[in-house]
Amino acid sequence: EKKKIVDNFGRAHTYLRISLTDRCNLRCFYCMPEEGIELMEKSNIMTIEEIIELATTFRDLGVDTIRLTGGEPLVRKNFGYLVEELAKLGVTLKITTNGIMLDKYLDLFQKIGLKKINLSLDTLDKAKSVFITKRDYFERIIKNIETALEMDMEVKLNIVLIKGVNDNEINDFIELTKNKNLTVKFIEFMPFKGNKWDWSKGVGKQEILDIVSERFGNIEVLQNPKHSTSSNFQVKGHTGSFAIVSTITNPFCADCNRIRLTADGKMMNCLFANSETDLLTPMRNGGEMNELIINAIKTKKFSRDGMDVKMDADHYEQNRSMISIGG
Ligand code: GTP
Ligand code: 5AD
Ligand code: SF4
Repeated sequence: EKKKIVDNFGRAHTYLRISLTDRCNLRCFYCMPEEGIELMEKSNIMTIEEIIELATTFRDLGVDTIRLTGGEPLVRKNFGYLVEELAKLGVTLKITTNGIMLDKYLDLFQKIGLKKINLSLDTLDKAKSVFITKRDYFERIIKNIETALEMDMEVKLNIVLIKGVNDNEINDFIELTKNKNLTVKFIEFMPFKGNKWDWSKGVGKQEILDIVSERFGNIEVLQNPKHSTSSNFQVKGHTGSFAIVSTITNPFCADCNRIRLTADGKMMNCLFANSETDLLTPMRNGGEMNELIINAIKTKKFSRDGMDVKMDADHYEQNRSMISIGG
């Protein structure tokens, strides 16, 4: 077995998240500053061919799973061609999307075997959706989710919980899992540059479990897949399941196997990393990539890029905004 990207804590990195663009057709307040971000210059963004080349390099170093993110990955030009080429690498392909443009690509996903779709849906209420996203695509997203489910895609809904915004909908989401074969994934609100994070706005794992068990009683604890970022549960008798990503109250870094590649070709060792390794420039200059990547992972810190105990504004305010990391 050729797992070559191993950090100083012995963690083999086999999961790569590639951000295809820093653009998005929504404006969710938890993901980007109100005034927006300064968009990357086109010449600094990986071309489709460069993405394929880097993905191949990572595959050859032991990456077996690639998740495509953004911004919104489906707004990337020539996305269809890219995903068809990536499917030839023999890795498990996944995508995280806001779902707006899914109707254009579901047939292609079925054809190439991309089944795992994580989809941001923070509310089941149209007016609230407009408030959170500043855009009006709610019905289209809901319709696309229905279609994806009919096509037997493995759909997980991502819900970033914010107090006073959508925390009163936790059990409505759980209700969805009664007869639908999907996972609703509650996510603890995380700090990034410009998103005005304050944990008093967040909802923690234990609080979520209390809310669900008060209403539904018996909660079964499911076995978590290896390297899972979420704890997985099911209400007894429900078809679907639910999950909690507890980065703030119960970080899961000990088993981390993830690397990130930003749209401008920077490798990030951690979601909260504020130092990066430029892969794009050396690749354009014909440099030796394997060594660069293998050395870069050696600087990975054990947990949350060093914010082991608490989230530290001096640290995360130096980060990128979430929209240009891709989650
Ligand atoms: P799976 O591949 O299905 O496990 O998906 P995922 O939950 O890892 O990815 P997704 O893109 O759906 O992201 C859901 C939430 O998990 C987002 O808030 C991400 O920022 C967060 N997340 C994803 N990967 C990591 C990670 O390595 N560390 C932390 N702390 N959070 C992560
Ligand atoms: N905290 C937690 N999760 C976030 N996401 C975006 N911003 C944040 C944040 N501040 C999630 C969205 C998206 C995923 C890639 O990241 O749910 O689906
Ligand atoms: Fe890995 Fe960083 Fe996420 Fe921890 S916070 S699981 S180290 S990416």
